Amino acid sequence: MNIIKAENYKEMSQIAAKYLTEQVSAKPNSVLGLATGSTPEGLYEEIIHRYNKGEISFKDVTTYNLDEYVGLANDNDQSYYYYMHKLLFDHINIKEEQAYLPNGDAADLQEECIRYESSIQAAGGIDIQILGIGLNGHIGFNEPGTPFSSKTHIVDLDESTREANARFFKSIDDVPKQAITMGIDSIMQAKRIILLVSGSQKAEALERLVNGPVTEDFPASILQKHSDVTIIADQDATSKLSV
Ligand code: F6R
Repeated sequence: MNIIKAENYKEMSQIAAKYLTEQVSAKPNSVLGLATGSTPEGLYEEIIHRYNKGEISFKDVTTYNLDEYVGLANDNDQSYYYYMHKLLFDHINIKEEQAYLPNGDAADLQEECIRYESSIQAAGGIDIQILGIGLNGHIGFNEPGTPFSSKTHIVDLDESTREANARFFKSIDDVPKQAITMGIDSIMQAKRIILLVSGSQKAEALERLVNGPVTEDFPASILQKHSDVTIIADQDATSKLSV
């Protein structure tokens, strides 16, 4: 694993934006895997900045998001569909029909999982997958105990994850109990992975991801087995790493 230590959150975001820009300029029809949450917000700001300067075009790019809550309509301001449009898609020239998220409001959720997984395959697979990490080691919404062989599936969210995400909702009661997420195997199929980590509260998770045993109890540990992972972490997040 390649670990890049950034001074701070802004530098972490800028480095990640540079990677994505290089990817898209080398392959204009790249397939990008995207994440939501607090961590990539700065990356999306940087991307919009670069787009406005004419440094990157999304005309031929396809994107797949990692996950979506179950039961929230697209226009619900807590849905990841809403987040992605507000923070990125509405500001760049991506085609609406090439910006995919799982539909957490689908009538048949099982069928939606199968459809999403095959859509990624049909697009040729993900060139670069952006990831954040949960305090419990989750990637996407793959909570501890998720089989490494998992494809896109429905998950029951851990109470700790619902608590961590409650900050975005009026109260914890409003946080959905389920989500659709790309599975661990779906994520591992990406040709390249960029994991962003920021803040001292993530330092222990990062240390465990890098040095801990590879175990389904800590889903992110599987990244040790991927051949092309770049971790971009700010100083606070690397405080527990010895190198
Ligand atoms: C979001 C996702 C999650 C987050 C993780 C960290 O699409 O898949 O795995 O990356 O929960 O969230 P933040 O960045 O809010 O700390």
